[in-house]
Amino acid sequence: MAPVNPPSNSPSTAFSPDTRFLVTGGAGFIGSNLVDHLIESGYATRVLDNFSTGKEENLTHHHQNPLFELVRGDLRSPDDCARACQGIDYVLHQGALGSVPRSVSDPRTTNDVNVGGTLNIFLAARDAKVRRVVYASSSSVYGDEPNLPKVEHRLGKVLSPYALTKLTDEIYGELFYSLYGLQTVGLRYFNVFGKRQDPHSVYAAVIPIFVKSLMSGNAPSIFGDGGQTRDFTYINNVIEANLLSALAPETACGRAYNISFGENTSLLVLYDKLCTLLNRHVSPVFAPDRPGDIRHSLADISLAREHLGYNPKFSIDDGLARTIEWYVKHLG
Ligand SMILES: NC(=O)c1ccc[n+]([C@@H]2O[C@H](COP(=O)([O-])OP(=O)(O)OC[C@H]3O[C@@H](n4cnc5c(N)ncnc54)[C@H](O)[C@@H]3O)[C@@H](O)[C@H]2O)c1
Repeated sequence: MAPVNPPSNSPSTAFSPDTRFLVTGGAGFIGSNLVDHLIESGYATRVLDNFSTGKEENLTHHHQNPLFELVRGDLRSPDDCARACQGIDYVLHQGALGSVPRSVSDPRTTNDVNVGGTLNIFLAARDAKVRRVVYASSSSVYGDEPNLPKVEHRLGKVLSPYALTKLTDEIYGELFYSLYGLQTVGLRYFNVFGKRQDPHSVYAAVIPIFVKSLMSGNAPSIFGDGGQTRDFTYINNVIEANLLSALAPETACGRAYNISFGENTSLLVLYDKLCTLLNRHVSPVFAPDRPGDIRHSLADISLAREHLGYNPKFSIDDGLARTIEWYVKHLG
């Protein structure tokens, strides 16, 4: 097994060369970006995915690479999770059913995958003596907590089955560390964006929706007055957070951390930036507020700075410029 090194400025070079990673949900948006980075850094990387929302095309460029291994399987299957965890040093658990509206219309499947699947991964990682599991949580766990910025210990009442599944995962993460000594680190992602984020899904996120509409010359809808804000986080910051979490001292384990850029941007400002980058100027259509939408979201990232050495390098402007370049090439 690889020795753990302290966080460095360049976390991807700090693992020993024979380190083996498992990325669950590796065919999805965040997972496939992690896989690219790990393989480019020279690490053996296995993916567990059932391709329910992830795409084959996100991984085909690795198929001939001896560092890459694909386990087609389901998080809901204990056997698939056990097979996937065998011989692994670090699990980066991204597989889940995302989207609040999906969880409202089908809470059972969201629960089976996000809670049952995470429990299967924790059990399999424990039994396979995996060094550490870093898992994706979500800013949705803050629920109706009104104060800004969001700090990890101050939670409100959850507002969706999706948020409940992520909160349950965090409690399991804490419990598995205290009960079985399985090292777990949870990452509460805030509105991640970047290449490969799916614009076609009915549950697409706001940036891909805006980009797709603008590129096809259509006016996107903005729910409410557009003054609502989000802490948009470029994917490369999330990749760095995962690697730092794997390397952080053990004192970082058994809890969850906010992962964002730490700045909030309104939807109107975001829309303006996208119009400028794409050189399209279409007025958006304003639609009624969506019930349950929170007005503002902003993370305090000082806990992640302190315990993980997290220091996001990519601002929203840097990230948007890179993301648009990718969409123009791939959607244009
Ligand atoms: N994108 C964001 O802004 C954001 C914000 C907060 C949290 N998250 C969390 O980050 C993680 C990754 O999100 P994403 O945006 O890349 O989503 P995604 O839908 O692109 O990726 C999820 C992946 O998990 C796979 N998967 C789903 N169910 C599975 C199952 N039963 N068995 C095996 N694989 C399964 C999918 O096929 C897909 O490849 C998720 O846990 C999500 O809840 C994302």
